[in-house]
Amino acid sequence: MALVKTARLLATVAVCGLATGASAADVEVLHWWTAGGEAAALNVLKEDLAGQDVGWEDMPVAGGGGSAATTTLKARVAAGNPPTAAQLLGMSVREWAQEGSLGDISDLATDGNWADVLPQAVVDFATYDDKWVAAPVNIHRPNWLWINAAIFEENGLTPPTSWDEFNEVATALQEKGITPLAHGGQPWQDATVFDDVVLGIGGPDFYRKAIIEADMDALGSDTMVQVFDQMRTLRGFVDDNFSGRDWNLATAMVLNGEAAMQLMGDWAKGEIIRADMTPGEDILCVAAPGTEGSYLFNTDFFAFFDVDEDQKSAQEAMASSVMSPEFQHAFNMVKGSIPPRTDVDISDFDACALKAKDDLTEANANGSLLGSLAHGHGQTSSVQQAIFDVVTEHFNSDMSSRDAVEELQLAVESASF
Ligand code: GAL
Repeated sequence: MALVKTARLLATVAVCGLATGASAADVEVLHWWTAGGEAAALNVLKEDLAGQDVGWEDMPVAGGGGSAATTTLKARVAAGNPPTAAQLLGMSVREWAQEGSLGDISDLATDGNWADVLPQAVVDFATYDDKWVAAPVNIHRPNWLWINAAIFEENGLTPPTSWDEFNEVATALQEKGITPLAHGGQPWQDATVFDDVVLGIGGPDFYRKAIIEADMDALGSDTMVQVFDQMRTLRGFVDDNFSGRDWNLATAMVLNGEAAMQLMGDWAKGEIIRADMTPGEDILCVAAPGTEGSYLFNTDFFAFFDVDEDQKSAQEAMASSVMSPEFQHAFNMVKGSIPPRTDVDISDFDACALKAKDDLTEANANGSLLGSLAHGHGQTSSVQQAIFDVVTEHFNSDMSSRDAVEELQLAVESASF
């Protein structure tokens, strides 16, 4: 495989008119993978490229969920100086492609039969106007509940499967002086919880109507009022210092027993693994309450910007590395996600990844594989931002659920135009 890659790289270098054997240009990569598990996963890619003589210029922009990275990227592109590649979530890939900022890697994708080995839901975000503009590195599942197994065992609790059960378990923990829910008060983390509550209370058809279709009746419904009621209840289960906390610090609270549970995507597993704990044993993974059978997903893509000719060979080397089965296996094992390539054997992954893969297959077959709003696969960035604003404002005030629902309708309506 390495030989094939090297041959391909040399061929590309020759086509670009550079002397064969010369080092390809570096790739400059903008991303937000700065937490421990994330950085470890990214290292897999850096090393793979180093093995091919492709240098790495790191452009990290800290901030989970990527909102700070988005701002930096916009400034770089506006200044006419885009990076070689940027980590992007699906809707942003589409929006940058619409702007005409992305290059075209269709030849590589056709040679590698990418369309045949990726789920259609992923292909839909990697292509625009029949051209391939990005390569997917993972499939994450944001609707997980992570549980400190020892705390549950000591207190005779079983993992909740509905929001009512969650509230009972959380109340029991609180009565014993244990913080039930580790949470970081940042808009994207509030929205990660909101996604789970919408799906868990309303079910997949409601999530599709309210979030993906932004249907005004669903957004203004009694079900949505119940969703905000549950958000208010959850506010009572977090500790006093939740405001502004980074997601990985909230994960650490569950790992070291300061809190019992966290609602977070499976990038949390990167932290669990780095702490030498076993996912599925020390830290249990169950679908967020009420969401078993449904799968919210988000995929991190490397989107390839329209760069100068002399940078293209390095860009192509990066795209083919990212799509190689060996890379997808190694990277996703560390990152906590599963490979988007369906032909990668993950039988040596942890129990949570195996459950993720089974659940993904089931959800894909029964129509309940749904793009995550919080993680850039549910709505355009303007509607997403409008929903974030209302969810966060409600979570941090005493706004009533009815008022929140009205605000939600207004905000989504004005962001849709
Ligand atoms: C998500 C991203 C993940 C992870 C997470 C926290 O949006 O898809 O890869 O990095 O943010 O930073």
